[in-house]
Amino acid sequence: MKIVYIVAMVAEAKPFIEHYGVELQEGFFAPLPCMCYKAEVHNNELYVVLNGQQHGSDLVGCEAASVATLSAIQKINPDIIINSGTCGAFKSNGAEIADVYLGNAVMFHDRRVPGDDEWGTQALGNYPVYDKVLEMADALGFKTGKVTTGSSLDMQPCDKEIIEQNGGELKDMEGAAVAFVCSLFQKPILFVKSVTDLCDSGAETFEEFSKNLAKASEALKEANIKIIDYLTK
Ligand code: ADE
Repeated sequence: MKIVYIVAMVAEAKPFIEHYGVELQEGFFAPLPCMCYKAEVHNNELYVVLNGQQHGSDLVGCEAASVATLSAIQKINPDIIINSGTCGAFKSNGAEIADVYLGNAVMFHDRRVPGDDEWGTQALGNYPVYDKVLEMADALGFKTGKVTTGSSLDMQPCDKEIIEQNGGELKDMEGAAVAFVCSLFQKPILFVKSVTDLCDSGAETFEEFSKNLAKASEALKEANIKIIDYLTK
């Protein structure tokens, strides 16, 4: 089986890259900024694709995630795509820092398009996710939640309103873009999200995110080891 991880930040991938000893595939996506790492795990091919960098920082957000996902699908033709990364979540849903969730659904919360139901439906996304996610979460003891994607780290009142109206729980900046591309190719998409900040804690988001990034990334590594064992056994 071929497993492709799409990861936005080096910090999110590093513990995982070190654990599996994946090797950088020089020039794999040239001239794109995406980086490809590869290893063999229990006779399966494991690829970790990072969005890459621009202006000295990791490329977060939907545009870079779409480019990475499209290129990875076209070049690798994986059996499953896993988007692993950090997210904001809500105390009111029982979330705690460094909790790991699997995504049971996915939507956008910052695409406000006026018009009829068709435009509204397209704007929200609501793409399909990996159909065995609940079984997997049950077997491995993960919580599940709905991934909600936007282009900003902060949460404006208009974002909050859409998140609340549509049951968003795991706020990130890439998930729905990855799922959109996967939907075009009918590729299964699994989300693994670890909580760096609580959107309803009143704390400054970037500060909370930065403080908890290393801890959440360690939790991601542990979760992904279990997931890879589960998928490849
Ligand atoms: N990634 C980590 N925390 C986030 C948040 N609060 N919003 C969007 N993406 C995030």
